[in-house]
Amino acid sequence: MPSLSLPKALALLASLAINFSYAAPTLRADAPANNDAIVADLITAPTVIKRFRELLTDAGQTALSGDALAKASIYDFNANSVPIPGSNGGKVGAALVDTMPYLLDSGLNTNLGYVGPCGVLVPHVHPRASEFFTVVAGELLVGTIPERGLLNDGSSPLLTNNLTQYQGTLFPQGAIHYQQNLACNQVVAIATLSNADPGTTPYTFPVKPGSEGNTTTVKRQGDASEAEEWAAIKETLPWYIVEPADECRQKCGIA
Ligand SMILES: *[C@@H]1O[C@H](CO)[C@@H](O)[C@H](O)[C@H]1NC(C)=O
Ligand SMILES: *[C@@H]1O[C@H](CO)[C@@H](O)[C@H](O)[C@H]1NC(C)=O
Repeated sequence: MPSLSLPKALALLASLAINFSYAAPTLRADAPANNDAIVADLITAPTVIKRFRELLTDAGQTALSGDALAKASIYDFNANSVPIPGSNGGKVGAALVDTMPYLLDSGLNTNLGYVGPCGVLVPHVHPRASEFFTVVAGELLVGTIPERGLLNDGSSPLLTNNLTQYQGTLFPQGAIHYQQNLACNQVVAIATLSNADPGTTPYTFPVKPGSEGNTTTVKRQGDASEAEEWAAIKETLPWYIVEPADECRQKCGIA
């Protein structure tokens, strides 16, 4: 095995360090950037500061600044969001470990969401996180179904609240919850969850054979109108969400 002189060894190490540094991650847009390779490499960094060195420096020589630092460390909700089925034109930007690798092991995910008039964020569970949800514009009805055993008789009734501007609430990890806009204006909300990879499982089930409605796959895209999307999704939802939503749509003149 050839031996390396100290300067040669240092030069080799330096070149390895360059190989192990990455272009700053690109942020999720309509066509989400794929940050899987970056995250995979960050996971192998032995310490957190070495991970930050990969993300936030030029191979440890200088700290990133300006646009390069912004790209690695800022999540731009303005530019990065995806439609939310059932939300009547609503959308959400989600800073997650794969859309923002800086979040790896931070224990945090943050979402900025818009809910259209009469829109519904269908019942869902986050299998790996608790959520703190704050309304920043408008008003939302929020519902939580806690796990069994809330009452002495073992039952757990649906809990509902109306959140007005700058009010927030907790959705405990694993609790089924939903949000519903019963007004004719758009609502804006911010939700922070206790995991950079919280996961989301919609609790929507087709109620009859052949029902096309399932929000795991129904997305507002192509030529499906919002009205067609709602018609499909409402087939999967409980009456206590559908009835007020349909009343709201009538009140607000939404087809
Ligand atoms: C929330 O607001 C809606 C619409 O104004 C109302 O029908 C409902 O009773 C309210 N629910 C609670 C829990 O305050
Ligand atoms: C879910 O919805 C899609 C699109 O409407 C449909 O093609 C698919 O069969 C549905 N899946 C289930 C399990 O209902």
